[in-house]
Amino acid sequence: MKLKSREIFHNFLLRQLEQLRIKQSKTAGSSLTLEDVNKMTNVSKVVKEVLRLSSIVSWIPRVALNDCILNDFNVKKGWTVNIDARFMHFDPSLYNQPTEFNPARFTENPQPYNFSAFGVGARTCLGMSFAKLMMKLFLHHLVTSYRWKVEDHDPGLEPWSHFPRLKSGCPITVKPI
Ligand code: HEM
Repeated sequence: MKLKSREIFHNFLLRQLEQLRIKQSKTAGSSLTLEDVNKMTNVSKVVKEVLRLSSIVSWIPRVALNDCILNDFNVKKGWTVNIDARFMHFDPSLYNQPTEFNPARFTENPQPYNFSAFGVGARTCLGMSFAKLMMKLFLHHLVTSYRWKVEDHDPGLEPWSHFPRLKSGCPITVKPI
């Protein structure tokens, strides 16, 4: 899998200085507000792109309550049907150059059922908004207050891991700006 470098990620966040503007608009010691978070449109795209590429929950199982036909397949009552989120997120008919890290692809909202990081329908992740908020806040503080250096660039993934994660654990050195 070809993932682009930290620089692209960092430049994307800082290009329009969205995060720095938000930080500079705050008085010393004041916390971020929901209004500030709602201004984080770039970081929001980064969060979606990270979730698309990492597909933390790879598949979403559903049990058929009745016999039914799904895309010409006969599904019997009681069968488990797995929605393969990772396959969907790497489908080139849905995402141009799907292995590229390109947050700008989320300038348009994805079509329904093209993006399934948090599941679908009535059982959609209850913590979705909370998780996205945490990621945005983390990224905001990371890029506005720190510089970091990746110590191990090995892009290899841990084999047989339930969640996609780097073998190296991606050790970094962080320095306050
Ligand atoms: C990046 C972080 C997270 C990801 C990618 C994620 C993803 C998911 C997925 C794919 C499902 C299954 C949805 C489905 O079956 O359609 C789920 C369910 C759930 N998640 Fe998350 N989740 C995350 C964080 C959280 C957090 C922080 C909480 C709680 C604070 C949470 C609480 C739940 C609960 C309670 C369910 C079960 C919902 C139900 O069955 O009705 N999740 N999550």
